[in-house]
Amino acid sequence: MTAPSTGISAPLAQDAPPSPPPSMRLRELVFGAACAAAVRAAARLGVADALGDTPMSARDLAAAVKTEPGPLRRLLRALSCYGVFAERADGTFVHTEMSRLLREDDPNSLRYISLWCTEPWTWDAWPKLDEAVRTGRNVVEDLYGKEFFVYLNEDAPESADVFNRAMTTSSEQSARDVAALLDLSGASSVADIGGGQGHVVASLLDKYPAMRGFLLDLPRVVENAVPRLRTGGDLAGRVRIVPGDVRESVPVEADVYVIKNILEWDDESTARLLRNVVEAGGPGARVVVIENLVDDTPSMRFSTAMDLLLLLNVGGAKHTTDSMTGRLKAAGLAVGDIRPVNPYLHAFDCIVPV
Ligand SMILES: C[S@@+](CC[C@H](N)C(=O)[O-])C[C@H]1O[C@@H](n2cnc3c(N)ncnc32)[C@H](O)[C@@H]1O
Repeated sequence: MTAPSTGISAPLAQDAPPSPPPSMRLRELVFGAACAAAVRAAARLGVADALGDTPMSARDLAAAVKTEPGPLRRLLRALSCYGVFAERADGTFVHTEMSRLLREDDPNSLRYISLWCTEPWTWDAWPKLDEAVRTGRNVVEDLYGKEFFVYLNEDAPESADVFNRAMTTSSEQSARDVAALLDLSGASSVADIGGGQGHVVASLLDKYPAMRGFLLDLPRVVENAVPRLRTGGDLAGRVRIVPGDVRESVPVEADVYVIKNILEWDDESTARLLRNVVEAGGPGARVVVIENLVDDTPSMRFSTAMDLLLLLNVGGAKHTTDSMTGRLKAAGLAVGDIRPVNPYLHAFDCIVPV
């Protein structure tokens, strides 16, 4: 086959390979760590950022990202097998839809999510999955001697930074969907519980110009709240940032409480947080819980892997519609509509009964 002379033609390595036999498929599966490590290496080296729209040789790419050309070629060849980058007949490499998502400047970038899912602590934790399955408990406390988020913020600042950036990416992308879905007319205040850097509350304050907001999260997280919410920001006058552990207390009275991607930790923490919200809001308060569900998702492989990672780090789980509803009802909430926010998230609209 001759190399195309101009432009970027369909790369050879993207042609769908025949499905391997089971014995090879299992061999491939047990090398999943190699695949994850290869994506991580490419993300850390900035290979996707260095490759533009013009095909590049491994040698030129290696010069751009300051690596040895031979090993970089091997990394790209391994990734190309999975459709991350593609090799052309002339030996140059081009982007694929997946490799573009590793670029930091891609509007749907997954660079920080890729790093987050492969952070150093995950490589300590995965080998202990059998232990976690046996005991039903997280393994992080045995590994590092403290709760996961405490470990992250106190001992692993680079991982904490990656986590915050990963959350920022996914929050920015989902905050717009949450604001579009939620009709908060009639409410005058909203509290985002474990709201990270505040993208959801900022989107809601944008949608409702008379609304006041609260952002609650751990101290080191809210220190990095989006600048719009901090002193001098255009929303600062309408928002109060409340640092603290929401399992200890939720010291704000609001008409609506949003709890997004929080109730994935251990059941005791879920029960305590919901109890605090019910007490803080009082009868009539609206509580909107937003979660990825394992029984209604277009991506079971991703969601079930995340479910196992939650077992390892916080002794938690991804929920099904029933398991989420059960916990909300057990906390004394009246569960109303359950609606999709986008293909990955569902909102459980609840009320504290009068
Ligand atoms: C998966 S993130 C979700 C962030 C945000 N709600 C979103 O959907 O983008 C979980 C958040 O819970 C926060 N968190 C964890 N433990 C907490 C605690 N005990 N008190 C307050 N926030 C906590 C984390 O700092 C993090 O921002």
